[in-house]
Amino acid sequence: MQIIRDITTLRRAVSALQQGGKSVALVPTMGALHDGHLSLVRMAKRVADHVVVSIFVNPTQFGPNEDFEAYPRDEARDAALLADEGVALLWSPDVTTMYPAGHSTHIEVAELGSDYCGAARPGHFDGVATVVAKLFNQVRADVAIFGEKDWQQLAIIRRMARDLDFKLDILGAPIARDADGLALSSRNAYLSEKQRASATAFPDALKDAVAAIAGGADVAQTLTAAERAIVAGGFDSVDYVALADADSLERLAEFHTPARLLAAARIGRTRLIDNYPVG
Ligand code: PAF
Repeated sequence: MQIIRDITTLRRAVSALQQGGKSVALVPTMGALHDGHLSLVRMAKRVADHVVVSIFVNPTQFGPNEDFEAYPRDEARDAALLADEGVALLWSPDVTTMYPAGHSTHIEVAELGSDYCGAARPGHFDGVATVVAKLFNQVRADVAIFGEKDWQQLAIIRRMARDLDFKLDILGAPIARDADGLALSSRNAYLSEKQRASATAFPDALKDAVAAIAGGADVAQTLTAAERAIVAGGFDSVDYVALADADSLERLAEFHTPARLLAAARIGRTRLIDNYPVG
């Protein structure tokens, strides 16, 4: 596996991979890889001839009081995992390659970015949309794969790609979960043993809410019951539990398909997100 850190070499290497009409899939990550990321890589291998993974801990998507400095980084470990998966190329730029001095352009996907995680993390999705647009332009892959765990992020990236006429296909990969249902996340590493044991209350409450809503229960009451169950299960607070249109992300007071239950909650200093399809 090649590890590349400058854009000229990257472009040359990706063009070489695409020789003879071969396709390239991009899996953007911030490293600290876990089985969830590897499931994206395996999906990428199924849909394309070659896989490029990017690792870049993107400062512009972290708020001032968030965990940018503390975010887990271990490129050697991540690279070994990716090489074992048969990844062709690791794109690992440093901050000055991604954001040269004077960088002053950013992308805002206004309609989808202000609610849910966008409300709790102002500017976060502008940082995501900007870096993902740059990654698309840098790598020029044929397809890009994102996890469905960040459902709002996926919707924003799809909209950004459509609005800005990016040529590549964007695929969502199903959420990878531990055996007890907790969605895999790099941030699970922050949980103490006790918090990890309690964290299963989060997917449990969401699954109960999904079953209730699909069975015709009142949406507002069900969302409130889910929030209470999450806190009763050991979480400190709930940022939101919402029923949303799966594509527009508009909040739904009444159930219709396609719908998605979206949620974020805090346990200690860790903020977890999750979502499920409804119906
Ligand atoms: O989902 C992530 O890991 C990041 O938000 C992404 C898409 C790699 C952009 O930095």
